[in-house]
Amino acid sequence: MIKKISMLSAIVILLLTASPAQTVRDSALLRYDREIDALIKQMTLEEKVEMLHAKHMFDSSGVERLGIADMKYTDGPFGIREELQPKSWTPLGLENDKATFFPTGSALAATWSAELAYEYGAAMAREARLRGKDMLLGPAINIQRIPTGGRTYEYLSEDPFLSSRLSAGYTKGVQDNGVAVCLKHYALNNQENNRGTVNVFIGERAMREIYLAPFKAAVTEADAYGVMAAYNKVNGRWCAENDVLLNKILRDEWGFAGMVISDWGGTHSTVDAINSGLNVEMPDKRFFGKALIDAVKSGQVSENLLNQRVREIMRVRLAIKPVPAEMANKEITSQPAQQQIAYRVACKSIVLLKNEGALPLQLKNKPKIAVIGANATQIMATGGLGAGVKTLYEVTPLDGLKNRIGDKAEIIYAKGYEPDGSGSANRFRKRSPEEIEKENREKEITAQKLAIEAVDAAAKANTVVFIGGNNRAVETEGKDRDDIFLPSGQDDLIRKIAEVNPNIVTVLVSGAPNDLNVVKSVSKALLISWFNGSEGGNALADVLIGKISPSGRLPFTLPAKLQDLPAYALGNYPQGRKGSDIFASLVSQTNPGGKPEAETAGNPVNSDPNTAMYSEESLVGYRWFDTRKTPVMYPFGYGLTYTTFKYATLSTNKTTYGKNDTIAIAFNLKNTGAAAAEEVAQVYVHRINPSVEWPYKELKAFSRVELNPGKSKVVALEIPVKSLQYWNDKRHAWDDDLCDIEILVGASAGDIKLRKTIHLR
Ligand code: BGC
Repeated sequence: MIKKISMLSAIVILLLTASPAQTVRDSALLRYDREIDALIKQMTLEEKVEMLHAKHMFDSSGVERLGIADMKYTDGPFGIREELQPKSWTPLGLENDKATFFPTGSALAATWSAELAYEYGAAMAREARLRGKDMLLGPAINIQRIPTGGRTYEYLSEDPFLSSRLSAGYTKGVQDNGVAVCLKHYALNNQENNRGTVNVFIGERAMREIYLAPFKAAVTEADAYGVMAAYNKVNGRWCAENDVLLNKILRDEWGFAGMVISDWGGTHSTVDAINSGLNVEMPDKRFFGKALIDAVKSGQVSENLLNQRVREIMRVRLAIKPVPAEMANKEITSQPAQQQIAYRVACKSIVLLKNEGALPLQLKNKPKIAVIGANATQIMATGGLGAGVKTLYEVTPLDGLKNRIGDKAEIIYAKGYEPDGSGSANRFRKRSPEEIEKENREKEITAQKLAIEAVDAAAKANTVVFIGGNNRAVETEGKDRDDIFLPSGQDDLIRKIAEVNPNIVTVLVSGAPNDLNVVKSVSKALLISWFNGSEGGNALADVLIGKISPSGRLPFTLPAKLQDLPAYALGNYPQGRKGSDIFASLVSQTNPGGKPEAETAGNPVNSDPNTAMYSEESLVGYRWFDTRKTPVMYPFGYGLTYTTFKYATLSTNKTTYGKNDTIAIAFNLKNTGAAAAEEVAQVYVHRINPSVEWPYKELKAFSRVELNPGKSKVVALEIPVKSLQYWNDKRHAWDDDLCDIEILVGASAGDIKLRKTIHLR
């Protein structure tokens, strides 16, 4: 399975990835073409080019003379970004632009619910409309290849099937409510270190089966209108001028009829970029301004092609009704209906990893609860770099506990540790050795004082609720984490707390995996409650007191240690470090991108900061751990609740299937405990005698099922045999691998309850 991808083969891939067939999909965007062509005929060259670059930071021009409105963009992906000055990142300081902060990507994915993703998208679109926006810069749907990736919290999952169901649901929700999506970041933006220079070398098969799948689903199933080209290169070409990604795959093969915009500062050329399929340069006009007019005049870019790029933008413009300027920002962006959706998503995202009788919290005898940890009070709507949400409100975990528990318990709070990364600007400032030493001494003194207070509070309490994890400065755009250990000495602190009070419930407020070796061993209960939006604290409290049963499931594997992960184990990541780049445009001019210096006969010992080898191919996340039989801390799909479920009697409608058939699966699920709860039943496929190599198993269906105590239900799911195809990189096409397969039904990738063998012929 693991092959080395040499520079040569990557170039061959680049040249050969021809589209197998031109697709004409029935996109809603195609219905405007006649009208658009009549308008294009009336436009001057200058007017056309005006449409192809930014006007200000977050808009691009229409043609006022012809009644074509400007396109207004908003970040995304987990809340409508506040209004900025037209030409800078400085906020305008409005009152009405306070938006709902929605749970971030990994939290949404932990709901394992395409229906909730739809509601989430619908809610985002309604808030975007209140602000007069046409296109939402989201969903962010790259695969979580490395847990340290700075934007793992924004992305959905390590699994392409789960990511695809959610990206299609989110996209439909947004677009059914009058706003276009902009799927980002297309493609292979799986790390933040050197994101503006890194060249991803990947084989065709892994690219299609794993990394492109969520984009394909959103385009082909949900008719996504917009795509954002990523900062990085893929197989030697910048994403914003990547003919294979933009023209051949996205447009020709998937039938995408909409517009591609660059990531902010991610355009690198004029002729190449427009020919390769880029529509709009954001947020300036270095390449798509005068340079483009000149290129058309000199014949380097044909007028026909220019018209086509304009047509693609106009399709979106006509499909999305502009909000008249005087209607925008009339009402406050965050509205109760949307806040309720944020609450529902948060409730269903919280993952219970361990519970030795500590939860739900017992409040009968007015216990004393010590809430310890900086994340109990830390706001997660903003922090670090990237899309923050100026939220109307955010219920922190401590607020939530106080709201829900009231006087039924005595709550005492101790901060416990000073959070890392506070003051993100400071993190990038150079300091003298003396300054650093002084800072460290002061930090040490503060840490000791906070730890003493925390241990003191713990000693007095019946129960400790430790609320730690990362924060938005630790997990941030523009920079990957160095490791996955809990920051700020939290492991040491919790060990000290355990010495005085063993009754510890640990809640991790993180958007990406942490090393759980210490907290797992000293905690009676352990949960992940994510960067969980405006209502996150209320949702967490409702789970802790048992008002609702936890029902989130891990969207990624929690490894026993970071080094077990494929990109680390194979020496593909981290590459040599070059410091954090914030915006690609700042670095791309000085370094035109990667050359793999480590192309040796041995394993790629990758010291070139600008080269990312994906030699693990499709073995991402649980696919790697399963296939290599490497133990994990908690498997993909894992999550407990306050009841137990029994799986029984797996059946399929047939035992032998042809390549165009659909496998209908049914099994019985029973709530065998005392609490009402939701289970996420998962169906994986294991190939028994395949003709090509496969990961040990792959997720192919799932269902969230609600059951009252004692009740049972027949769960019915379908797997089209076509969805089991592989990408044949010799034929550059999808192919069947008709073999015997085992259908595995279970509660996680590590807990298979039922099996049945069927045959594909
Ligand atoms: C990010 C995008 C974002 C854009 C505009 C870029 O740095 O990569 O995700 O939409 O900025 O804020």
